[in-house]
Amino acid sequence: MQLEHEQKLSLKQVFLPRYAANPYPLYQQLRRQGAVFWDEVLGNWVITGYSEVLSVLRDAHMSAARFEVTTDWIPAEWLAMMEPPIRALTRQMLFLDPPDHSRLRGLVAKAFTPRVVEAMRVRIQQLVDELLDVLLARGQSNLIEDFAYPLPAIVIAEMLGVPPEDREQFVVWTGNFGAILEGRELTMEEIIQAFVGVNQFMQYFREIIAQRRTQPKPDLLQAMISAEEGGDVLSEEELLGNCVLLLAAGHGTTTHLIGNGMMALLQHPQQYQLLKEHPEIISSAVQELLRYDGPVQATSRRAKEDVVLGGKQIQAGQNVLVSLGSANHDPAQFADSDQLHLQRLENRHLSFGQGIHFCLGAPLARLEAEIAFNTLLRRLPQPHLEEERVEWETGMVFRGLKTLPLLFA
Ligand code: HEM
Repeated sequence: MQLEHEQKLSLKQVFLPRYAANPYPLYQQLRRQGAVFWDEVLGNWVITGYSEVLSVLRDAHMSAARFEVTTDWIPAEWLAMMEPPIRALTRQMLFLDPPDHSRLRGLVAKAFTPRVVEAMRVRIQQLVDELLDVLLARGQSNLIEDFAYPLPAIVIAEMLGVPPEDREQFVVWTGNFGAILEGRELTMEEIIQAFVGVNQFMQYFREIIAQRRTQPKPDLLQAMISAEEGGDVLSEEELLGNCVLLLAAGHGTTTHLIGNGMMALLQHPQQYQLLKEHPEIISSAVQELLRYDGPVQATSRRAKEDVVLGGKQIQAGQNVLVSLGSANHDPAQFADSDQLHLQRLENRHLSFGQGIHFCLGAPLARLEAEIAFNTLLRRLPQPHLEEERVEWETGMVFRGLKTLPLLFA
């Protein structure tokens, strides 16, 4: 792929095939350009330094309401279809500032509690074992398709109380939702297709929520419907938007944590062996795998007022792309920042973000990953990676594998 302005250093170069397997050398070059720099190709500020990324994510002047919500660009014949998903997306907590954000996050967090997550432990182990039984019997596997993708999809579907058999459809809709977040340049046709998908996603939940109102069930969806704080509840639109967010955020990212993490372990046989022999280090191991090659490489904010950061003046209304991937490899914060150390101490990685939008699903993602890695390492007999068949998906925001082909001895 020949990119326009290929000569100019830009975060957009992550789309180049040479950075697909390893974008970190690009981030290193970007950090040399500045912890805060104006990316001419993207027409955005890009933040690459750890402490500057932290400042942006904690700064109340940096708004999470970063997408254009005007509808004047939508062709008239599509307006009726696109308005509802656009409105619902703007009611997702991820794109809101306080006080709306605090209210919504509070209500959803009342349903999605640590106890609800911990209650999934036994079921997650059972699913991991069942998926492994099938792939081990075959002697080979694309670990993404056979394991890393179905596990989190089934877990979040069961938690929410939607049929796990519908998961093929969730992937398509999550892809549609992801395309809107990814920030890749889309044609009008692709934008419409993405919103058609999100609209169907919402319709799907609309029907299930309607059933729940007459036939309650003991699941997360029901808990979200019933969540109440001082007489306040989630409106239908807020419920829909945040169900889409939970289901979409709940599986794609965790798939990539398992895939990227397993890839990193296979590329570091000593670290692989260390974890296999010492499963008790799993919690710090997962934190390090998140830091080393996280599934969410970037997020964004919009300046509400003029802000001075890293000696640069960011003007009100300008967009800021925050490179979590670069911050996680910043040598000013992490010793041997490009090395994988599963027992790393002081690992304040930013893969789940930071501040008020810190990932609500982090405990679930970590639990799934801990059970997955420990069981994979215990049960896989000498996996051999077929390097030439590995395929990465490129992206500025999401990073993960399409295929992780393994053969077992
Ligand atoms: C390894 C897996 C995951 C990663 C790397 C990840 C990463 C992130 C990041 C970076 C943010 C903050 C974005 C920002 O500040 O702009 C975020 C927010 C969020 N994540 Fe996750 N996530 C993961 C798994 C999950 C899961 C399993 C769920 C739910 C089941 C989830 C639900 C959410 C929600 C609801 C938010 C919005 C929180 C808010 O705005 O207050 N995530 N996630």
